[in-house]
Amino acid sequence: MALASVELDTKIPNNVGLSQDPKLRRALEHWQPKYLEWWHEMGPTDFETKDVWLRTAVSVDDHGWANWDYVKMPDYRWGIFLTPRTQQALIHVGDETGKPAWEQVPGEYRNLLRRIIVTQADTEPASVEQQRMLGHMAPSLYDMRNLFQVNVEEGRHLWAMVYLLHKYFGKDGRDEAEELLERRSGDPDKPRILGTFNQPCDHWLSFFCFTMFTDRDGKYQLAALKESAFDPLARSCAFMLTEEAFHLFTGETGISRIVQRSAELTKQDPNGDARGQGGIDLDTIQRAINYWFTYCLDLFGGEISSNAAQYFAAGLKGRYREADRFEDHLALDEVYRMWVPEGGRLVEKEVPLRNAMNEVLRDDYIADCERAVRRWNKILEKEGLSYRFKLPSRRFHRHQGIYAGHTFDPEGNPIPPVVFEAKKDEWLLSPADNAYLQSIMKPVYEPGKMAHWIAPPKQGIGGKPLDFEYVRM
Ligand SMILES: [Fe+2]
Ligand SMILES: [Fe+2]
Repeated sequence: MALASVELDTKIPNNVGLSQDPKLRRALEHWQPKYLEWWHEMGPTDFETKDVWLRTAVSVDDHGWANWDYVKMPDYRWGIFLTPRTQQALIHVGDETGKPAWEQVPGEYRNLLRRIIVTQADTEPASVEQQRMLGHMAPSLYDMRNLFQVNVEEGRHLWAMVYLLHKYFGKDGRDEAEELLERRSGDPDKPRILGTFNQPCDHWLSFFCFTMFTDRDGKYQLAALKESAFDPLARSCAFMLTEEAFHLFTGETGISRIVQRSAELTKQDPNGDARGQGGIDLDTIQRAINYWFTYCLDLFGGEISSNAAQYFAAGLKGRYREADRFEDHLALDEVYRMWVPEGGRLVEKEVPLRNAMNEVLRDDYIADCERAVRRWNKILEKEGLSYRFKLPSRRFHRHQGIYAGHTFDPEGNPIPPVVFEAKKDEWLLSPADNAYLQSIMKPVYEPGKMAHWIAPPKQGIGGKPLDFEYVRM
């Protein structure tokens, strides 16, 4: 199969051979100004005129896929890149395992695939909208640059999905691409599709939790789609994952740096309360973890799901690293054991594995989050504190799936709704927490300087030292 070369000097940088496909090229060039209008209205508008030290995807090689330079965000070169294949891909998930992967959308899966792509696509602009004001309280120029890097790359992820909609879904796909620019995060009349992407993200503790937990959900969703029998989708997601790694780094290390600083301030304070020293107390960090982690668990879908079974059977989605972690790609003979609420208590049930595929992916996600929590606890241990962070139970504070509509404590024990209501501000980021966090987050725009509530990172980024002027204010 022919590999399209990288076209960089075109209106839309790409390696999908846009210059050979004038009809598609025109359609995307028609969408481009609307995208830029959306970016201008809903992106980090107040920083549009600033030079930001950004990396831009310019190739698909493992090494050297990115170029670093000062760029004004509206001038960012949003491109369409698919990880190349050197040979015909084979389906390795579900009933069609072993057959050639699809280069076109099979008629019977057209609606399902469109829905999968639109749902993924919708999260990309949503997160930019959720984060659009955070530049005004950035703890440093380093962090501000990282925020903007995440934002422009989420924009590129939207491009990746819109390309698939335009190329493979005809008029329906073009209509969907328009609607992606019309919905707005948190708007009661035209909200984003998934609940988590309508939650406010209005300070940096939430931003780091978002990039830690929500972008990590994105990683697992992209990883599942990377196994798809629809090869253009698999190749799009493979390349998106290279960018996603940085978003996860931003979140995980951002929380690490807050934990480090909070531990220092906790020790300094006579009452052992970092808030007393103008920082973020450890309980508030735990509440932010509880809040964002549980909203993100919802994103994996129902625990027992005939949709999930169908997606797997058809090969539309696989498990995390399906190809190299599993031998049996049919998953027909196994069962998954889970706790199901029934009549006010929990009953252990066996579910056919295919119907539990959402839960299987959620397990991998939770294990990854637990690894990060252990890392944050290491910091506390090193600082000589006995406090430890803990992920809440997967049943706690859920809005989707079998646990939604029931109330549990963070350990996962069923509790009456009144008890949950009475305790919820102890367990979850509250309006008072958010007001406090916003009050301490004054912007720091001097190169190399750091806000009081966060420790500096170990090093700078993009080949530059920490005191580099990452954003020219
Ligand atoms: Fe993304
Ligand atoms: Fe992301």
